[in-house]
Amino acid sequence: MCANKATTLENEIDLGKTEKILEKYQTIKGALIPILQKVQDEYGYVPEEAAYLVADRLGIYPSQIFGVLTFYTQFHLKPRGKYIMKVCCGTACHVKGAPGILDRLQATLNVQAGETTADNIFTVERVNCIGACSLAPIIVVNKDAHAKVVSDDVANIVNDLKAREA
Ligand code: FES
Repeated sequence: MCANKATTLENEIDLGKTEKILEKYQTIKGALIPILQKVQDEYGYVPEEAAYLVADRLGIYPSQIFGVLTFYTQFHLKPRGKYIMKVCCGTACHVKGAPGILDRLQATLNVQAGETTADNIFTVERVNCIGACSLAPIIVVNKDAHAKVVSDDVANIVNDLKAREA
């Protein structure tokens, strides 16, 4: 018996969500990126199985899909944490200590930028200027901004979030 890859995974992907998106958008010319955005909105990332399904339905090579997914930084190919912690490393934030803040956050959570903690609670990301330079250095957690952060604030920010999960 040859099972579909998606059904053999421990964390099974519900491809029905992708099917619904495709039903709505697959006949619209030039809809690849909106489709992938909607897939990511559903799962929090773009599962490999969903990418293959999109390629199949749109009649394009999977390599074209993965080309798009890896070109645009908005797309993520791995599951991300409940809290996305974006450390701005633009020029203003860099000058005001962002590298030290990022180091502290990585050490506190024991992950590197681009990684997610084993419990899937935190993802750390390094981002370019987010347009709030007067508040530098800044960390954005999901939609909440922490302005003029100093290294010693990092533990408090993380502990507050952990307390919400307790
Ligand atoms: S450099 Fe960080 S907000 Fe502009």
